Amino acid sequence: MSGRRSYALVTGASRGIGAALAEALAGEGWNLILSARSGEDLERQRARLARPGIAIQCVTADLRAGGAAQLLEEVARQGWEVDLLVNNAGLGSGGEFAGLELGRELEEVQVNIAAVVELTHGCLAGMRGRGRGAVIQVASTAAYQPVPYMATYAATKAFVLHFSLALHEEMRKQGIHVMALCPGPTRTNFFQAAGLGPGRGETAEGVARRALAGLKARRAVVVSGGNNRALVAAVRWLPRRVVTQLAARMMKSWQRTARGGRAALPAGKIGAKGREPGSPEPASGSGVVVIPKGGPPPESEFGAAPAKRSAGLGPRGPQAGVSTSGTRGAAAQGPAPTT
Ligand SMILES: NC(=O)c1ccc[n+]([C@@H]2O[C@H](COP(=O)([O-])OP(=O)(O)OC[C@H]3O[C@@H](n4cnc5c(N)ncnc54)[C@H](OP(=O)(O)O)[C@@H]3O)[C@@H](O)[C@H]2O)c1
Repeated sequence: MSGRRSYALVTGASRGIGAALAEALAGEGWNLILSARSGEDLERQRARLARPGIAIQCVTADLRAGGAAQLLEEVARQGWEVDLLVNNAGLGSGGEFAGLELGRELEEVQVNIAAVVELTHGCLAGMRGRGRGAVIQVASTAAYQPVPYMATYAATKAFVLHFSLALHEEMRKQGIHVMALCPGPTRTNFFQAAGLGPGRGETAEGVARRALAGLKARRAVVVSGGNNRALVAAVRWLPRRVVTQLAARMMKSWQRTARGGRAALPAGKIGAKGREPGSPEPASGSGVVVIPKGGPPPESEFGAAPAKRSAGLGPRGPQAGVSTSGTRGAAAQGPAPTT
């Protein structure tokens, strides 16, 4: 018996689909490690999700800049056991590839692919040792076909989908469930950040609900939403060239909408230095900061109260709590105070 707490680690948990997934998981009794670049946004999520018996840790990490390794190191250092990894952080960009800023395209490869591989590898090591665990890889319906004017993004998601399907097969006999989540367009900040206008489509909460239902049913893939499932099915039957041309037309129409009806988006839409508008500066220094409830100092721990088990995939083992700094947590004393 390790006596350690067991957690769901959610990347990109500061908003959008990641925040909705974190909320749904909290509702099922999971202890949470929330990660993203923006410490303030993570703190807001921690306050929003706080409930009795659940420990919520916040770790800022920039997954463009070696943050995945540092996040894993921090998790190991704190002694948190990750029984569910949700690789959700991701970004896209809209426009003609040749005119887009190369730095941004490479960031997509780094965050959407390299960090996913690294975090999955790191967390599977512990899961294999314990003989249990699950991974949700957030791909996209964009994974099912090439998408002109969003070429890099769609290709990164094709990687995530195939990677996830392969791991599903490799791990299923070891008691570890790997699932690809493929949302279609969803009303989050994603479109705005990609230069494609306001979010549209499903709600993030709806996507999260379907994701957890799929996880409990041990599905290999969840394509969220009936229309999206129909589209994904249709793609399989059409010639790839036709599908690619249709995708190009859809993207041009989105770009026109983003431009308020004017001609297609010019290349190189994304802001300076490859950051999406309004996004925080990259984390500095080590790239990883554990945020204690209520702000600095940077290293502290929460709680020791038992958490609910969920559908065979929930936290297990004694919930004695971890306390590297010697503090026992707020969760043991009732609802964590909001910050
Ligand atoms: N919205 C859609 O239509 C849609 C459809 C299909 C799939 N998806 C996928 O769903 C996932 C979540 O997207 P979303 O729609 O929720 O978008 P979002 O609202 O823009 O959220 C993106 C999340 O990723 C984090 N993130 C971005 N860059 C990061 C970096 N360098 N390091 C660490 N974290 C980073 C952001 O936090 P910080 O900015 O604080 O770091 C934020 O929490 C992505 O993988 C996306 O590809 C979205």
